[in-house]
Amino acid sequence: MKTANILELESFFVSEKVENYELIRRIEQLEKENAESRLAARESMRKCEAQYKAMLESVDAHMTLVDRNLVIQWANEKAKKNFGHDILGKSCCEALYGKKELCCDPSSCLTRQAFRNGGTVRRRSMKMKDKNGTGKYFEGTARVVSWDDDGKPSVVVKIYKDITGRKLAEEELRNNMKQMRKNLDGTIQAIARTVETRDAYTAGHQRRTTDIAGAVAYGMGLSKQVIDGIRMAGVIHDLGKISVPAEILSKPGQISESEFSLIKQHPQAGYEILKGIDFKWPVADIVLQHHERLNGSGYPFGLKDEEILLEARILGVADVIEAMASHRPYRPALGIDDAFEEITMKSGTLYDPDVVDASIDLFTKRGYQLH
Ligand SMILES: [Fe+2]
Repeated sequence: MKTANILELESFFVSEKVENYELIRRIEQLEKENAESRLAARESMRKCEAQYKAMLESVDAHMTLVDRNLVIQWANEKAKKNFGHDILGKSCCEALYGKKELCCDPSSCLTRQAFRNGGTVRRRSMKMKDKNGTGKYFEGTARVVSWDDDGKPSVVVKIYKDITGRKLAEEELRNNMKQMRKNLDGTIQAIARTVETRDAYTAGHQRRTTDIAGAVAYGMGLSKQVIDGIRMAGVIHDLGKISVPAEILSKPGQISESEFSLIKQHPQAGYEILKGIDFKWPVADIVLQHHERLNGSGYPFGLKDEEILLEARILGVADVIEAMASHRPYRPALGIDDAFEEITMKSGTLYDPDVVDASIDLFTKRGYQLH
């Protein structure tokens, strides 16, 4: 017969066994759940990696990951295809520029700059070689994407976009423009010579006027763009004289009122010839206005002050200086001093005072000489 103690002991062991069993069951369940969630996490990570990989491979750019030793650790297929499938483990310099060096240009290296700045560095255009040694143009970005435990940048992603097609198209366009400009210059020179052939007394006048006007504009601190426009207009500013009978242009002595009214049409005639040409500058308008005067007494429209283009105001003064200093069919050369007297006396009335001052400075302080 079992004593009360034994019964109590048996009951303890039974309850203990039940508890142990529950515990084991619980532990097994937890382990199973852990294993399942680990599996799910692995699967999710695998999917995530696959998605990122697909994304990186689908980007229309060459991508590489470079470590702090400037060695390529990873590259997308596009980068491998362009720079070679053996670029992993190589330095950027060797892989992208074909040189057996760690860094081709330490002062301007995009990767080094990104490591130094700890941020993003961009470059609009750089030339690199593909695996066949062909030079190509790229637009590049380097950006730190990983840091070590001390917070130092440890990995940089470099993204290169091939812009060779765009660069070549730009280069071709530039060359075409250069050629067109050269052709236009040649045409303009030919026109200038044609005008001067008809009017032997003013031969060289357009060139000398152009030189004075360009130098005055330079002295006034105007931009190269404006100076180039003045020079282009200056070379052909009397182009419209082609419409004036040669005998009037080269007539010695005084000319009549009606003859002068014919000569006065030359700015408009020049404008009509030039207005259809697409210059970079307002050449036709400068030619049209080169006889306009500040007080409205000029021709053909009697424009005043700011209504007259600055380029035309400069060309107008240079025209007067050159014309007075040179020989004309109807009078001998008056000389540079008379020219100075004319523009100084009428400064502010006929001529722009700033242009007059710059013109006097040109000859007196800068030692300019007519030639
Ligand atoms: Fe003129």
